[in-house]
Amino acid sequence: MLQVHLDKAGYYISEAKDAETAYKILEGKSFEVVICNIRKIGGGKILEHIKERYGTLPVIMLTGSADVDTAIELMKKGAIDYLTKPIKKDELLIALEIAVEQKRLLEEKSELENKNREYQHGLEQRITERTSKLEEAYSQLKQATFDMVKALSGAIEAKDPFTKGHSYRVSQLSVEIAKRLDFSEEQLEILEYGSLLHDIGKIGIKETILKKPARLTIKEYTHIKRHPIIGEEIIRPVEIFRPALPLIRNHHEHFDGRGYPDGLKGKEINIFARIIAVPDSFDAMTSDRPYRKALTVKEALS
Ligand SMILES: [Fe+2]
Repeated sequence: MLQVHLDKAGYYISEAKDAETAYKILEGKSFEVVICNIRKIGGGKILEHIKERYGTLPVIMLTGSADVDTAIELMKKGAIDYLTKPIKKDELLIALEIAVEQKRLLEEKSELENKNREYQHGLEQRITERTSKLEEAYSQLKQATFDMVKALSGAIEAKDPFTKGHSYRVSQLSVEIAKRLDFSEEQLEILEYGSLLHDIGKIGIKETILKKPARLTIKEYTHIKRHPIIGEEIIRPVEIFRPALPLIRNHHEHFDGRGYPDGLKGKEINIFARIIAVPDSFDAMTSDRPYRKALTVKEALS
């Protein structure tokens, strides 16, 4: 009787007399809906089989009126609907339409979920790629910056050959000190390039004074004491070096306030400037100067 109704309604039908036949037919073709008689072929088993292998395939249970409880039980397990015998044609067709529609919606949903997953995956991949490109660009930029700092620091030494390697040694020692004070990576970087640049202002100091093979006069000393301010002026326009400005300006301040150019005292002096003052003095003492020989390390330390 079902066949007659369904043929007329335009459905193509395959029929199975038992579960095994049903499984074989299901394997061979694609279906939109299964109608399953509970009594005859163990609806529960078939339902399980279908849910497991064909997730979105809807199953309508067919029951006698005595089987209603079983039918409800089976709906809890995933059957989409149940029809009681005798079957009414309209009920059957409506149940079928709903089942087919539900299958369509479920498939659409899973397709959307797949697309969404693919999109998410693609997005993650793109983010990873961009991030690594950015990291690469950043490290290139950082390298370029350091190269520039080294070049600038070389420019000071070209003018004042007695301080050859001075900025580099001061930079290394300053970083070592700061490491022992638990400075952050970022702070260590500021200190590293800042100390390479600390004497950059000497570019603006007369060469005759820098190279004078005797003690400086008061006037000459006053002139040379301008180098921290000149250095600050040279570096100020370079945005990325700004954190090092206080270090450059104040690296000749003294903790007792008798330094220059601002006569700052104690903790008024920028911490980077306070650190660099130590290796700066130490390296100056242990290097030959035009007007005196280098002190020994022991003498310098004392
Ligand atoms: Fe200096």
